[in-house]
Amino acid sequence: MKRAYNFAAGPATLPTSVLETAQAELLDYHNTGMSIMEMSHRGKIFDAVYKDSIERLKRQAGVPERFDILYMTGGASTQFALVPMNFSQAGRTAGYADTGAWSKKAIEQATLQKVKVHNVASSADRNHSYIPARLDFNADLDYAHLTSNNTIFGTQWQTLPDPGKTKLVIDMSSDFLSRPIDWQHVGMVYAGTQKNAGPSGLTVVVIDREYYAREHEDTPTMFRYSTFAENESMFNTPPTFQIYLFGLILKWLEEQGGLTGIAKHNAAKAKLVYDVIDEYPDFYIGHAERESRSLMNITWNFKNKDHESAFLKGSQERNMDGLKGHRSVGGMRASVYNAMPLAGCEALAQYMRDFVKANA
Ligand SMILES: Cc1ncc(COP(=O)(O)O)c(C=O)c1O
Repeated sequence: MKRAYNFAAGPATLPTSVLETAQAELLDYHNTGMSIMEMSHRGKIFDAVYKDSIERLKRQAGVPERFDILYMTGGASTQFALVPMNFSQAGRTAGYADTGAWSKKAIEQATLQKVKVHNVASSADRNHSYIPARLDFNADLDYAHLTSNNTIFGTQWQTLPDPGKTKLVIDMSSDFLSRPIDWQHVGMVYAGTQKNAGPSGLTVVVIDREYYAREHEDTPTMFRYSTFAENESMFNTPPTFQIYLFGLILKWLEEQGGLTGIAKHNAAKAKLVYDVIDEYPDFYIGHAERESRSLMNITWNFKNKDHESAFLKGSQERNMDGLKGHRSVGGMRASVYNAMPLAGCEALAQYMRDFVKANA
């Protein structure tokens, strides 16, 4: 069997051991004679899988008591709409930091619902290559929205800011469970699992219970967070197989030393690649400014644009995949989420060095 080093931005590489466990249990889950994906979500066996994953997430991420954990669907894109729908209303104000394409999409959904958008900060002036240091939370805000990691541009908030009188609502799609979470100023966190935490199809929401009181009478049942909270995320049929896989990922994370352990590992991996970019500034141009660099998505261009296609072709020959950058940055993007092994980053760094020697 050949496993490629998959640098795709998501869906992304998963730990081989997790896939092996899922494979071994696929036809007969714990001597039940059935696959977990064939079982009722209301049965005892799935209930245990569900509860175990919730407990593990609470423990691993140190989720404070004031939060509920909800399992939803529709991805972060649905959360872009549900957050203003449930936490604000037409004519009221919410803060948004515009740090890239995904932040913009979140802003669009608030605007569509006639929520006034207060610009907390923007990095649009330099093609979103940095995380702004000057933030303006100076308004009566229903919440302040951030994208903790900008998947397309390769920038990441290094720490979470204090938003003053309001709380942060954070799209953690591309760095969820990659490092410890400072919950102090957080009102809600949401993330699709398809980058760091499993396959696509499951959205994890960690929400402060105080928000349920803001819901409107006319909000449809399935669009309210309280519906999910009151029904253990089973008002309708949840994505059972994805929840099972999310639980396996949480077990695997424990083996990696939890969020502290994985954060160290992620920093070491990203450093291998950034070091090469820094070593050859006349050849590679990193997109993100140093102090805003993402440990999840590493973006760079070539001084000579003609190198792009040759680099990609050579990467395929070395069993690497998914390196082509997003069109708004160009060049390359290496997504090095939790499950990317150190050996994958070593192989990429070596290839980048060899490529300079062959083409400089
Ligand atoms: C930061 C961020 N937010 C939101 C999304 C959209 O997520 P989904 O496809 O789960 O709706 C993505 C997808 O790549 C992302 O990286």
